[in-house]
Amino acid sequence: MTDDELLQAALKVRDQAHCPYSNFRVGAALLDDTGALHVGCNVENAAYPQGHCAEAGAIGSMVAAGGQRITTIVIVGGGDSLRSCPPCGGCRQRILEFADSDTRIIFQDDAGASMIFSIDQLLPTSFRL
Ligand code: THU
Repeated sequence: MTDDELLQAALKVRDQAHCPYSNFRVGAALLDDTGALHVGCNVENAAYPQGHCAEAGAIGSMVAAGGQRITTIVIVGGGDSLRSCPPCGGCRQRILEFADSDTRIIFQDDAGASMIFSIDQLLPTSFRL
C-alpha cells in the first residue's frame, strides 16, 4: 500500500469523525507489520474527557486484529478545510508503544505537503518501561 493510498484512507475515515463539540475532524490510517490497513477517527463525547483521538481508534483496531507494529501512520485533520494536524502528545506516546525507529509518521503542513517524522523526532527522551 502506497503513502497516497494511506492518505486517501485517512481522508475517507476523517469524514466519519464524531466531533460535534470541536468541529475538528481527524482521520488516521496505519499500515501494520502484517501489511494490514487500520483506520480510526476522533469520537467526541458530551463528557469531554471521554472522547478519543483518531490515532487511538486506528491503534485499537490494529491490536484487536493481531497487528503488533506500526509501519506507517498518516494523520489528517481540520474543520471544513484541512489544516496541519501533528499528533497530540498523548497520541505520540500511543504511537511510541507500537513504533520502531523506522516507523514513519506522516501528517501535512499548512500548505498540504507531507511531513514525515520518526517517533524519536516527535517524542524524544520518551517514557518507556
Ligand atoms: N485529535 C485527534 O483525533 N488526534 C490528535 O492527535 C489531536 C486531536 C482530536 C481530539 C478532538 O476530538 C479534536 O481533535 C480536537 O482536539
